[in-house]
Amino acid sequence: MTPKQWIIHNPDGDHRVIVTKELPGTRWLDVLTASDCRVEICTSDQVLTFGEISERIGESCDGVIGQLTETWNAELFDVLATAGGRVYSNYAVGYNNVDVAGATASGIPVGNTPGVLTETTAEMAISLTFSAGRRIAEADRFMRGGEYHGWLPAMFMGMRFHGGTVGVIGAGRIGAAYGRMMVEGHKMNLVYFDLHPNESLERYVSDYSEFLAERGEDGVTARRTETIEELLRVSDVVSVHTVLDETTHHLINAERLAEMKPDAILVNTSRGPVIDEAALVAHCRTHPQFTAGLDVFEDEPAMMPGLADLDNVVIVPHIASATRWTREGMATLAAANVAAMVQGYPLWDSDDVLPFLSGDTPHAAPSIVNAADLNIE
Ligand code: GLV
Ligand code: GLV
Repeated sequence: MTPKQWIIHNPDGDHRVIVTKELPGTRWLDVLTASDCRVEICTSDQVLTFGEISERIGESCDGVIGQLTETWNAELFDVLATAGGRVYSNYAVGYNNVDVAGATASGIPVGNTPGVLTETTAEMAISLTFSAGRRIAEADRFMRGGEYHGWLPAMFMGMRFHGGTVGVIGAGRIGAAYGRMMVEGHKMNLVYFDLHPNESLERYVSDYSEFLAERGEDGVTARRTETIEELLRVSDVVSVHTVLDETTHHLINAERLAEMKPDAILVNTSRGPVIDEAALVAHCRTHPQFTAGLDVFEDEPAMMPGLADLDNVVIVPHIASATRWTREGMATLAAANVAAMVQGYPLWDSDDVLPFLSGDTPHAAPSIVNAADLNIE
């Protein structure tokens, strides 16, 4: 394997921080520089291996910003802890690539980047919903293929969303934002499945419904279903927003796909393995009216055989959080997590992370997922 190239920012910084990919923007570098960090950044597009990361950590390393494509297991946290490491931050909100228990056992705080991806990711779920339901990618291929020979009454008919039912699986920040966008934008009724009721989402929808009623328009409803099956049966569109863990692996399998309406839309911007992708390929083959919009894949960057041949599937390469504002914001939050743990700053005590994105950076860690276990306050 060719050795990876690294660039050094603020070479005289006291604390050595390793960043396994180049990140967008410059604010994140300013945050680390202000905390007296020397920042070593890998310029390769390839995923670094365990060996490459541990070799770079070397004898002495204070912190790392890593990627969701890397496997941060207990052994790697042990390497980091042995080198004097005091923090790891994922450059992502999701952290299924991180063995958090292993990090905790080595005493390493694990950061993530919530709060700047919410609307951006929901907007991608919206984009996939409409691309799938209105057959945008398929129609685009048709145009480019020179196949458009004139308007026809029944060409590329898709879904009418207005007034239908949208199902959200996992009504956390992103799922709730997606649900609100579909309700407000398209007057859809919302059902959601989540272990916990989302009262603020339900109240939002009922307030909105009152607003519609005052205007003499039909109202909208929001309701938590008892089971996933119930949600799947009643929804015209289902969007998945869960975390990936052992309880959500293959949450959507062949049996559950069979519960869905034959012309439903399934959207996934969470993590690939939440859907049994082979079952989805089989289902899309036998249900040509069914459509899916996927940002994530079970075995990324690979796709299940047959997936790319399906006209009723819209696929994009894990770009749901890819807006400049969000990706620069994620870099800033990851840097602030590292800076805070290196400097011994406390946890940020609010879900609102916007203060990190401009002006003076707060002296706090925006989000440390194992803070409670490590008694970080
Ligand atoms: C992206 O997938 C993330 O978890 O931030
Ligand atoms: C987003 O930031 C989420 O965790 O839902």
